[in-house]
Amino acid sequence: MSTAIGELATANETAPDVAEDRAEILAGLRAEQKRLLPKYFYDQRGSELFDRICELPEYYPTRTELKIMDAHLAEIAKLVGPQAAVIEFGAGSNVKVRQLLDGLEEPAAYVPVEISADYLLQQAQDLARDYPHVHIQPVFADFTQPFELPRHPVEPRRNLVFFPGSTIGNFTRPQAADLLEVMREEAKPGGALLIGVDLRKDPEILRAAYNDSQGVTAEFNLNVLHRLNRELEADFDVAKFRHEAVWDEAEGRIEMRLISLEDQTVTVAGRSIPFRRGEHIVTEYSHKYSLEEFQALARGAGFTPQKAWTDEDRMFSVHFMSVE
Ligand code: AVI
Repeated sequence: MSTAIGELATANETAPDVAEDRAEILAGLRAEQKRLLPKYFYDQRGSELFDRICELPEYYPTRTELKIMDAHLAEIAKLVGPQAAVIEFGAGSNVKVRQLLDGLEEPAAYVPVEISADYLLQQAQDLARDYPHVHIQPVFADFTQPFELPRHPVEPRRNLVFFPGSTIGNFTRPQAADLLEVMREEAKPGGALLIGVDLRKDPEILRAAYNDSQGVTAEFNLNVLHRLNRELEADFDVAKFRHEAVWDEAEGRIEMRLISLEDQTVTVAGRSIPFRRGEHIVTEYSHKYSLEEFQALARGAGFTPQKAWTDEDRMFSVHFMSVE
C-alpha cells in the first residue's frame, strides 16, 4: 500500500530547535568545562558537511559499515525474518535503510524517528515512492526518550530497531546504556536490534578520521558556531576558534573541541561568555568499543547478542541482538 504525502505530514510535531534549547545551550557554555551537544551540528549545512565527511578517504566508518552489511545481508534477512517493521533511530542516510529494505523479506513498515524535520519528510517521501509496499511513517521525537510507535495497516511480525553509523558512540557509556534500554522497549519482546558500532583501533587511524586533510571535519565542527550566530543571537567570530579532535585512551573516545585562539568575550542570547586563549568547548564524543565491551553493555540493557560481523581489518562492527 502506498503512503500519501499528507499522511506523512500528519506525523509532524514541532521539531525542537536551537532557540528552544536556549537554556541548555547557555548552561553548557557557562559550565566550568564548556560544552555543546553534538545534536546541534545538524542544521542544513551541518548535514551536508556530514554527508561529505562520510565520503572522505580517512573516514572509514560509513563505507566499512555498508560493506559489512552488503556481505552479510542474506544472513541478516534470515535472522530478522519476514514482515518486520524497521524502526530507525535518528534516520540519517537513506542509502543504509534502502540497502536494508532491499535485503529484508517483505518488510512491512519503516518508521524513521528523528527530532529534526530537516530532510526527514523529503527522504520519507522518496522512500514511499520507491517502496510502495512498505508502510512509511516518520515519527518526530527525541529518540532518547520512550515514544509511541504508529500503527500499521499490516501488523508487522516483529520490530527491528535499526541504529547504523555508530551514532551510539556519540553518547557517553551510561547514556548509551539508557538509550539501549529505550531501544529494547521499542523493539518489544520478540523484537531485535541491528546496530553499527565503531571499534577500538590504532589511535593514528582514529585521529586521521576526525582531523581529515581536507578540513571538512573542521568546517563541520566550526559550523555549530555559525548556527548559534544565526539562530541564537550569538556573535562568535568563527575565525577566532579552531577545530581539534583528540583520542582519549582511558575513556576510549575521540573528543572534538573548538579552541579559542585568544582571550575574548562572546555574547550568546544576551549573555556574555568569556573565553581564555586556549580554552575549549567540547562539542562531541565519539566512543569506540571492543566487540565484547559492546555486547556486555547491550546485555545490561536486556538484549541477547546473537551475531556480530566485522570487516577483515576489524575497523567496524554490526551487531544483531534479540529481545526475549
Ligand atoms: C554521527 N557520528 C557517528 C559521527 C562520528 O563519527 O562520531 C559524527 C562525526 N563527527 C566527526 N566526524 C563524524
